[in-house]
Formats: sequence, C-alpha cells, structure tokens
Amino acid sequence: MRGFFAGLGVVSIGLIALSLGTVGAREDASRPEYYTTKVKPILDADCGRCHEGTSHRGGLNMDTRTAMLAGGHHGPAIVPGDPGKSWMVRLIRHEGPADDPMNMPPKADKLSDADIAVVETWIKAGAVMPPDPPKTQ
Ligand code: HEC
Repeated sequence: MRGFFAGLGVVSIGLIALSLGTVGAREDASRPEYYTTKVKPILDADCGRCHEGTSHRGGLNMDTRTAMLAGGHHGPAIVPGDPGKSWMVRLIRHEGPADDPMNMPPKADKLSDADIAVVETWIKAGAVMPPDPPKTQ
C-alpha cells in the first residue's frame, strides 16, 4: 500500500512538472510556443485582415517567418534580435514615419502596451516560431 501511495506521489509530481513546463514554454520567448500562444493571437486579431492569407497590404504577408523576413515594400518587417530596427515594432509603437509606411494598425486604436511588449520580446529573443509549413503550390 505504501508503494501505491508513493507511486501516486511520483505521478502527481510528474504532472505538476509537466504543466509547469508547458506554462514555462509559453513564457519563454526563445520557444516557438511563445509565438503560437502569445504573438500570433495578436497578429491574427489586429493585423490578419490586411496581412494574412491572401492579404499583402504594403507588400507584407505575415503567415510565415520567411514572409515576415522578406517584409514589404520597405524591407524586412522583423529583424530578429533587434526590435528597434524592425518595422513591425516601430509601426505598432507609432514611431514610424507619419505616412509611408504609416503606423499600424492604420486608422485604429494603438495596440496595448502589453501587446506591444509581447511582440518586442518575441523579436528580441530571435523571432522564434514553428517552421514554415511546406509550400502547397
Ligand atoms: C486595415 C488594414 C491594415 C491592418 C489592420 C494592418 N495593416 Fe499594416 N499595412 C497596411 C497598409 C495599407 C500598408 C502600407 C502602408 C504604407 O506603405 O504606407 C501596411 C504596411 C505595413 C508595414 C510596412 C510594410 C512595408 O515594408 O512597407 C508593416 C510592418 C505593417 N503594415 C505591420 C502591421 C502590423 C504589425 C499590424 C497589426 C498590428 C498591421 N500592419 C495591421 C494595412 C494594414
């Protein structure tokens, strides 16, 4: 019986460690989970209708890392490791030029400081995200 309870203890410690590990991965900007659980929801909600799928406003599509590195008419949207040089960050901080490329999202509320910080943290840690899906065409 003691063995059974001891075993149960080991299992629950294991489960706690596992769940902490998942949370840790979400908070750790050097892991792709940071992008999928924190960054992508922001991009989907605030940028997607103009920069995802078939939308390439300003020449920029954000579906893949390759596309963000290629960027739009003004060059790379992200410079991994350097938020200050990344158009994406400059424009959401409203520190871009007044007109071309204009601050993002256009004619809408500025992102919250918390959301801006998430994007900055992600780029600073190297803009890590899951590998690009294979090309379909
Ligand atoms: C309503 C449509 C719309 C939304 C929403 C939007 N954008 Fe844009 N985006 C544009 C247009 C239009 C341009 C081109 C503007 C220009 O060149 O002056 C652009 C340009 C850009 C550029 C510069 C591309 C280049 O190299 O010229 C970046 C970076 C960018 N957007 C990031 C974002 C981010 C990040 C979000 C979400 C927070 C966002 N955009 C939301 C329409 C949108």
